[in-house]
Amino acid sequence: KGFLVCAALLALAECKAARSVGHEPRKFPDGFLFGTATASYQIEGAWDKDGKSPNIWDHMTHSDPCLIKDCSNGDVADDSYHLYKRDVEMMRELGIDYYRFSMSWTRLMPTSFSDYINPAGVEFYNNYINEMMKYNITPMVTLYHWDLPQKLQEMGGWTNPNIVDWYADYARTVYSLFGDRVKFWITMNEPNIVCYNGYGDTSMAPRLNLKGVAEYLCAKNLLMAHAKAWHIYDEEFRSTQGGTVSITLSSTWFEPEDKNNEDHVQAAEDSNQFDWGQYAHPIFSESGGFPPEMVKNIGAKSAAQGFARSRLPEFTEEEKAYVRGTSDYFGLNHYSSKLAYRNESAYGYHEAPSFFDDTDTVSYNLEEWKIGESDFVKVTPWGFYNILTKIRKDYNNPSVYITENGFATLGGLEDEDRITYYRSYLAAMLDAIDEGSDIKAYTAWSIMDNFEWMQGYTERFGLYEVDYSDPARPRTPRKSAFVYKEIVRTRTLDF
Ligand code: NOJ
Repeated sequence: KGFLVCAALLALAECKAARSVGHEPRKFPDGFLFGTATASYQIEGAWDKDGKSPNIWDHMTHSDPCLIKDCSNGDVADDSYHLYKRDVEMMRELGIDYYRFSMSWTRLMPTSFSDYINPAGVEFYNNYINEMMKYNITPMVTLYHWDLPQKLQEMGGWTNPNIVDWYADYARTVYSLFGDRVKFWITMNEPNIVCYNGYGDTSMAPRLNLKGVAEYLCAKNLLMAHAKAWHIYDEEFRSTQGGTVSITLSSTWFEPEDKNNEDHVQAAEDSNQFDWGQYAHPIFSESGGFPPEMVKNIGAKSAAQGFARSRLPEFTEEEKAYVRGTSDYFGLNHYSSKLAYRNESAYGYHEAPSFFDDTDTVSYNLEEWKIGESDFVKVTPWGFYNILTKIRKDYNNPSVYITENGFATLGGLEDEDRITYYRSYLAAMLDAIDEGSDIKAYTAWSIMDNFEWMQGYTERFGLYEVDYSDPARPRTPRKSAFVYKEIVRTRTLDF
């Protein structure tokens, strides 16, 4: 039945991932971990409480109050700053092993630097961590989930190479404050969204819109900052604290529109390399540095455009070595896929309507991949299987933590579509595990609805629904929460 549903939905042959739907119950491997995730700006609220200073999202949403789809912001969000005990209660209800959340740089270090550590910020995260640990829920902390101090942005943010040291200062401070209890660290969440969407276009703060230039400066500095934070942990904390430090990459899977067309195959490969290889190659490949596809394409285009040197900054041999190997596992956020083909004549520099003008690649979704009312996440579990397989093959089978996966609806407690999504993606992941991928953990995004960036509160990702019309921000479990709970309890995918 599963295969037929898949074939009908996808109108594609790649239904392998869903093949087990409707068949035998499938066990997750021994020791496999389940969690859920959130991020500071999306849930905390209390944007200026107890000494916190503004970050780029506070600044952007306040400067232009209707930039966000529903003219909202994260000033109050889920009010987790005050309701953290309820958050932990939900974690207990779900029975999850760990909880992934992020810390707000400007709540802990309102000047941006470690000259002043805000006691109220420290107390908040201590309370949050201690409350979850009281119930054996392991904290997994993201250091940076997009809420850069506004002051640092005014000094160029991720395009200023000095940010490597500013970020290192923040990372060292956070390890010292919480590393006695936190053993899972994620340095950066989805660098390509930070750099491409924040610096390359206008779909994330700070909306710099310097495609093909600022985005690559951002990428290099961010990778160097990540690597420095990893080395600091490795040299100064690992022996006493015994934790792990990794990075989490966002990933769209790009599938060639026509697998028999070599150009399409190369276009899809280029797109994968620009999207997530940009960050995976420097860290996980044998040779290091940006992927050859980027070096070649951007180099050739830059020369043709009259630039004196490539718009893609280089890593020196020393820098390559410094960045290589700086992740204790592969953190992967994955939601959906696109089809890709090459169209060299379609665009000129700066005018590209496509995601990657430097690849001359067009990518798109099929209507059939949509389920439910929201257009936000397409259901393509075969892409999840494909990307997990490629990671296994290209990077020598690293340990992988799925640090995000989830589905958006427009709200409501009966969320059958989300359940379908989760089940088919978990089945795809189990297929990859069966074939040898070393996947250790799965994180559902998100435990509850939250501020979905430019979409505000219009797109809902929660296992729990949050009522934003009520100042008490009540959280109510959706049907998917009960399904996820059952999967976690039985360690089985059974449907
Ligand atoms: C990835 C991001 O890390 C997270 O902040 C966002 O809410 C989800 N994807 C859903 O779009």
